[in-house]
Amino acid sequence: MPTIVSDPKKWQKLRAGLKGSVGFVPTMGNLHEGHIELCRRARKECDHVLASIFVNPTQFNQRSDYEKYARTFDADCKLLGEAGVEYIFNPDEKAMYPDNYELQVTETVISKELEGEFRPGHFQGMLTVVLKLLNIAQADKAYFGEKDFQQLTLVKKMVEAFFIPTEIIPVPTVRADSGLALSSRNGRLSPEQLKKATEISRLLKSGYSDEEVMKKLAEAGFKPEYVATKWGRRLAAAWLGDVRLIDNVPLSEVKKDRAA
Ligand code: PAF
Repeated sequence: MPTIVSDPKKWQKLRAGLKGSVGFVPTMGNLHEGHIELCRRARKECDHVLASIFVNPTQFNQRSDYEKYARTFDADCKLLGEAGVEYIFNPDEKAMYPDNYELQVTETVISKELEGEFRPGHFQGMLTVVLKLLNIAQADKAYFGEKDFQQLTLVKKMVEAFFIPTEIIPVPTVRADSGLALSSRNGRLSPEQLKKATEISRLLKSGYSDEEVMKKLAEAGFKPEYVATKWGRRLAAAWLGDVRLIDNVPLSEVKKDRAA
């Protein structure tokens, strides 16, 4: 079983005594194979692996979503242990926000578009907690999934802008055999919705234009928020029932002709 640490200062003391490199995997728990892949990469590339489990209140748009977020701590610890994670940082809100949320990180360009347009404040909360986590972890490398591509882009930008001495390692999205990107939210889909959700990655890879993909998603019963081509990827967000799904694919995987 990994060693669980909840006090930031305790981890930093422990970290100072570790010889060799530290790989860090930040999570909000409710883990799936996508998170485990991040841990495997860290295990392969670093001498020690730390993962965090912290459901960050400031990145949720609705308090009810924060409260609804599935907490599966015991199962998560077991999975992390099996993936070779030695340390789990599991702070409470007070430990992470001793300033009572008075200091926050604001990015003014990328954070305003796509996800930022539909989830105002989300990236401010995410960047704030990631800055805190990176400062606490004192890791050599930190692993982020490409599934949240805009998040990854913003984290890289923050690390560069604030001279944070941790290398950000992007890890490709893990998909089910159906093509569906793994996500903690998939657990809230019915078997029928799970089948339908595969349309997102299929259409993202199709030769249809972004506008046509929007239209086709709507026709298939989704409420699409955006389909856009940016940063060498095609990205989308769409509601299926009351579950909001996001996905993106590299442009190299997008068909050149229109046949879907
Ligand atoms: O991707 C996530 O799970 C979260 O946004 C992160 C990076 C752990 C920050 O809370």
